Amino acid sequence: MALQALRGTSDVLPEAITRWSAVEHTARRVSRCYGYQELRTPLIEDATLFLRSVGETTDIVQKEMFRFEDRGGHEIVLRPEGTASVVRAYLEGHLHKTEGFSKLFYLGPMFRAERPQAGRFRQFHQFGVEAIGSASPWVDAEVVTLCVEILRACGLADLTVLLSSMGCRADQARSAEQLRERLRPSLQELCKDCQGRFDKNVFRVLDCKNPACHALAWKTSGSPRPTGSHGIRGSGGHEEVGRGSPFVLCADCQAHFEQVRQALGAAGVGFDDTAVFARGLDYYTRTVFEVRAQGLGAQDAVAAGGRYDQLVEELGGPSMGAVGFAAGIERLLRAQEHGRAPSDEQRSRRGVYLAIAQPALAGEGFRLVQQLRSHGVCALMDYDHKSLKAQLREADKARCQFVAILGEAEVKQRAITLKDLEQSSQETVPLEAFAQTVAQRAKTAAAACHA
Ligand code: HAM
Repeated sequence: MALQALRGTSDVLPEAITRWSAVEHTARRVSRCYGYQELRTPLIEDATLFLRSVGETTDIVQKEMFRFEDRGGHEIVLRPEGTASVVRAYLEGHLHKTEGFSKLFYLGPMFRAERPQAGRFRQFHQFGVEAIGSASPWVDAEVVTLCVEILRACGLADLTVLLSSMGCRADQARSAEQLRERLRPSLQELCKDCQGRFDKNVFRVLDCKNPACHALAWKTSGSPRPTGSHGIRGSGGHEEVGRGSPFVLCADCQAHFEQVRQALGAAGVGFDDTAVFARGLDYYTRTVFEVRAQGLGAQDAVAAGGRYDQLVEELGGPSMGAVGFAAGIERLLRAQEHGRAPSDEQRSRRGVYLAIAQPALAGEGFRLVQQLRSHGVCALMDYDHKSLKAQLREADKARCQFVAILGEAEVKQRAITLKDLEQSSQETVPLEAFAQTVAQRAKTAAAACHA
């Protein structure tokens, strides 16, 4: 039997790469516009990093990390998320000393040993940003705005931004006590895991994947349960801060949240601050958010993030605020398919197919193809002695914009026939000027297509 990719993992075949690249390109472009710089971290990390950041009682750490011992007996994990690694890299690279406030972005695979289902994989990809070194609410607003702008630039229209605040650590301790009091009478009805979480980290009951615990926790907390997508609404209104949330905020955290809401209003980003939702990672403080998209079914969070003001210190650095988000690329691509026409980039033709009339002309053809490539023009040719007709069919299949036909007569006249398949036109171009002419034509066509 042929071998298959592991459950929850998948290949990205060439036909899908155009869309992946377009999303990656857009995310990088928009992030750079906001002043974020790319960084890359290893796929494997010391297990302790995630125990200390994501949290020992979270599902990610307890059940979903791919963990193994290396030959030296060190406990290694395949990274389940990017934030902890970025903070580690920030500290290890001394950016807190050399740069201070740093705006960073990353893109790559993450690994969680979850039960695979639609929109939930064991290897998936995230595009994420982390703004480290500021406690300003303007940075929270910038991060949410950047997230929405990237998703919109990728063609997602029907988005709902859920916004909430989990308060500072002192607020969380107080809120946990209140939630415990409310849950205590139903303790026996919780699953075994949640009974363990009750004392250690009661907020984890809120995101238990067991529907009974989940329902009980949200019902008991007096909060409306997380709702589905409704499309972005106007600015968030002025309900009491923390309304409907299990988190009770101190005056400072309320003021911070209010400033984030106002800044988002000023940026024209709509949000819903009434529906509460749980974040499955322990490092969050204050602002948390989730962006939901249409067409994703149960796994409709296309991006999520929030502020983590203690994490840098908890990982051995100075006390400094930080905030970020990560978008799931697979979910983003799936949401794109929902009611969206293929982009111009996908529809339009590009590049040149150099067809040769006889196999003996392969050498001259190869020279010309290389010339085109060195001028930055995508160029293809046949290496298998196909008939001219078959080569023309191949050019069409590869969606080339030009076909250049090289025959004996052309070589003698030091010229080549160039057909533009988009314009249905044809001309004869001197061989010496061939590469420059095609490069110029391709550039003009690309500019017209993006105008
Ligand atoms: P997260 O909510 O665990 O947050 O993941 C962020 C996004 O990654 C989700 O909204 C979803 O789109 C995608 N995602 C997560 N798990 C899977 C999966 N198993 N299969 C497919 N897609 C998935 C974080 O990872 C935080 N590090 C975000 C953050 C950055 N917070 C602050 N900075």
